[in-house]
Amino acid sequence: MIKIVETRDYNDMSRKAANVISAQVILKPDSVLGLATGSTPVGCYQTLVHWCEKGDLDFSKVRTVNLDEYQGLEKWHDQSYYYFMRENLFKYVNINLDNTNIPDGSNPDAEAECARYHELIESMGGIDLQLLGIGNNGHIGFNEPADVFADKTHKVELAESTIDANARFFKDRDEVPRFAYTMGIGEIMSAKKILIIASGKAKAPIIREMIKGPVTPKVPASILRFHPDVTLIADVDALSLLNKE
Ligand code: F6R
Repeated sequence: MIKIVETRDYNDMSRKAANVISAQVILKPDSVLGLATGSTPVGCYQTLVHWCEKGDLDFSKVRTVNLDEYQGLEKWHDQSYYYFMRENLFKYVNINLDNTNIPDGSNPDAEAECARYHELIESMGGIDLQLLGIGNNGHIGFNEPADVFADKTHKVELAESTIDANARFFKDRDEVPRFAYTMGIGEIMSAKKILIIASGKAKAPIIREMIKGPVTPKVPASILRFHPDVTLIADVDALSLLNKE
């Protein structure tokens, strides 16, 4: 069962999510954190930066693995997830960059890159706390709606709805990469704890589907209901359809 924490708004969601991550790092300073990109975690990362600057949080022993990366973007492309993580978190906290990991989207050899990433996660002893956002179509990482749940890191073709959603970050829709490398559902489900965050009315239909609909690879996030320790922190808008018939 997914524990649900309702927040007033985006800022309240961000602060509460940061509290959960902060508690994890305080209790286990060498935690392996699974991290996400996108609009939703930005406020949470800003809060973590603030607490780190105040000296309340120490990332020096933390190790990270990100969920996904576009295939074909160089690391320093301003829409790569490598760049996003640098600009939104890593640059501003005392993390050792050697301890941060993101699939290498510039490696054209998908098989080799995905196998490397899977082995890396295993070699780190798995993920202590995985942070997730959710796509409007129910994707987690870039695990798009499909006929089966993918187990390990793999190459995916992005859904048209994901390309539409992410086009806002690019000058032109045509510039959005068509493929990505993403952690698989099996790797995400192996995390000891999962924290999923959501904000805004646009997410309300899929949050309802995740919690109330069938568990199916057509709604990848629905599988989280089979994980023993998942918390959803979401604002009133994102939860607004949950209790409607
Ligand atoms: C990002 C990721 C995606 C996003 C999702 C929601 O690393 O894995 O699953 O979490 O697309 O994106 P936002 O937060 O921009 O609505």
